[in-house]
Amino acid sequence: MKYLQCFKTHLDTRMPAEEIQIDLAVQDDLPAINDIYNYYVDHSTATFQEVHETLEDRDRWFTQHGPRHPVVVARRSGSVVGWASLSEWNSRSAYSQTGEVSVYIHHEHHRLGIGRRLLEEVIERARGLGFHTLIGGACTEQTASIGLQESLGFHEVADFRAVGYKFERWLDVKYFQLML
Ligand SMILES: CC(C)(COP(=O)(O)OP(=O)(O)OC[C@H]1O[C@@H](n2cnc3c(N)ncnc32)[C@H](O)[C@@H]1OP(=O)(O)O)[C@@H](O)C(=O)NCCC(=O)NCCS
Repeated sequence: MKYLQCFKTHLDTRMPAEEIQIDLAVQDDLPAINDIYNYYVDHSTATFQEVHETLEDRDRWFTQHGPRHPVVVARRSGSVVGWASLSEWNSRSAYSQTGEVSVYIHHEHHRLGIGRRLLEEVIERARGLGFHTLIGGACTEQTASIGLQESLGFHEVADFRAVGYKFERWLDVKYFQLML
């Protein structure tokens, strides 16, 4: 009984699936995508970018993605609360079946199951597009990112020391891989 109560409490932190809508991103979503991301530029080692992404940069990024590298968004009551993307891992042609995943959830909407749904969507789309394997990176401070990737079957494949420097400290990075 005690176990069941704990389990119920755990489930209650999740939103009903119908409250979140997952869509392919469209041009109009770019300001929201960018605002979500730039919060982490300012406040987090989730990204090693240190200067805001401009809307022009974001526009170029979106255009470069195209149908083989989808960008998906999560909407809640019509507003974008998170996004995820599949990107080229390396531009050399022999890497074309390897993708890199990214996912960013609005900082006020964490731990509601949105990151998992978005990353699952990207994984399924990557399978459908014939990708062979996916790679995700995370600063070792980013326990949420590491937890999310591991919970979806990504395994650690690389562990780099002091490859980033942000907020006046050296940062370690791990890479994770999922075979599709
Ligand atoms: C990482 C991130 C995308 C997770 O999204 P989220 O919607 O908050 O996560 P979810 O609620 O979908 O959690 C799914 C699983 O991820 C793991 N997880 C999520 N947050 C966690 C945390 N703070 N600590 C440990 N594990 C965590 C858990 O395994 C969780 O499953 P559970 O809740 O059943 O235990 C979100 O924290 C985020 O946007 N962080 C900043 C950006 C970032 O680090 N992006 C990843 C690198 S590209």
